[in-house]
Amino acid sequence: DKAGFKHFMAKEIAEQPSVLADTLNHYIKDGQITDLGIDFNQVARLSMVACGTASYATLVAKYWFEQLAGLPVDIDVASEFRYREPPIPAGTVALFVSQSGETADTLAALRYCTGKADKIVSVINVPESSIARESDVALPIIAGAEIGVASTKAFTCQLVTLALLALTAAHQRGKISDAELASHLTDLRGMPGLVNQALAIEEDSKRIAAKLAEARDILFLGRGRMFPLALEGALKLKEISYIHAEAYASGELKHGPIALVDKTVPVIVMAPHDELFDKSVSNMQEVMARGGKVLLITDARGIAEAGDGAWRTLHMPEVAPLFAPILYAIPAQLLAYHTALAKGTDVDQPRNLAKSVTVE
Ligand code: M6R
Repeated sequence: DKAGFKHFMAKEIAEQPSVLADTLNHYIKDGQITDLGIDFNQVARLSMVACGTASYATLVAKYWFEQLAGLPVDIDVASEFRYREPPIPAGTVALFVSQSGETADTLAALRYCTGKADKIVSVINVPESSIARESDVALPIIAGAEIGVASTKAFTCQLVTLALLALTAAHQRGKISDAELASHLTDLRGMPGLVNQALAIEEDSKRIAAKLAEARDILFLGRGRMFPLALEGALKLKEISYIHAEAYASGELKHGPIALVDKTVPVIVMAPHDELFDKSVSNMQEVMARGGKVLLITDARGIAEAGDGAWRTLHMPEVAPLFAPILYAIPAQLLAYHTALAKGTDVDQPRNLAKSVTVE
């Protein structure tokens, strides 16, 4: 049931304020994160494995686990991990992220770790799935059924669940105080409201998407925690609009991809006004100096400082920089959705793709 929306994807994008609140309510009781079943003082290393959009959630979470909890983290896509036969040293917790819980490569990677890792943890949307059943600890993301092939609400709910797990790790390991934890939880609690505000960029996104639909190639750039969002923006766009899109960590631009930039290539820069903003501005200027058309996605401060000269801007709400990746999923989704609509492609059932990849 599309509940009056044109596509499941549109419905699932719009549902995010409410499902994110569900995820938060599931895991936060009386102002505290509930017991998630892992003692992070016994953990020496976290190994996270997933595919596609779920793997970008692990990439964001790596920044959180490292910065907040000081925990060494390895991440890999499941299809590489499983065949490499990586050593699993003592003290490793293996964590698998999957919306469906049935992705063949992720399940095989989990089975490889069974008996080797200290604990098998999964972050899943389908509690009765194979990956959930074969885990020691299965953490549901409470996103509700996701039908659109392009993952949207599952991604943001995965991020919130992983953020709560990283905060738990940081608190248990004495890296953040009670007061710091409380302040991070207040920020996360504000996320459904901010996502709701961010959905107001839909009209602007539609206008910009009408132009993006004419492009043959599109580049996405992001730094730090925003790099995985660039990857997510490019994947979403490729999947449903069939436009060739590539994502780079902004600092990698001059190591090759800048050769692609000319006036026909839109370059989408995802850059909240955070500690790395100045660096992103320099990268934007490099693009503009070569005639590239920059779409800057940022907040009011970012627009005031760097909006001039950009081809287009998308004005996002202010957000705690740590959790900005959750909010910046919204423009990634809306731009892909409206570009696909402008091109007339099949949004919910894109060619060659399946919702759940149960073959290798
Ligand atoms: O069910 P899973 O989360 O394990 O699926 C992983 C990927 O196949 C999935 O995220 C895919 O990349 C989506 N189509 C992205 O929109």
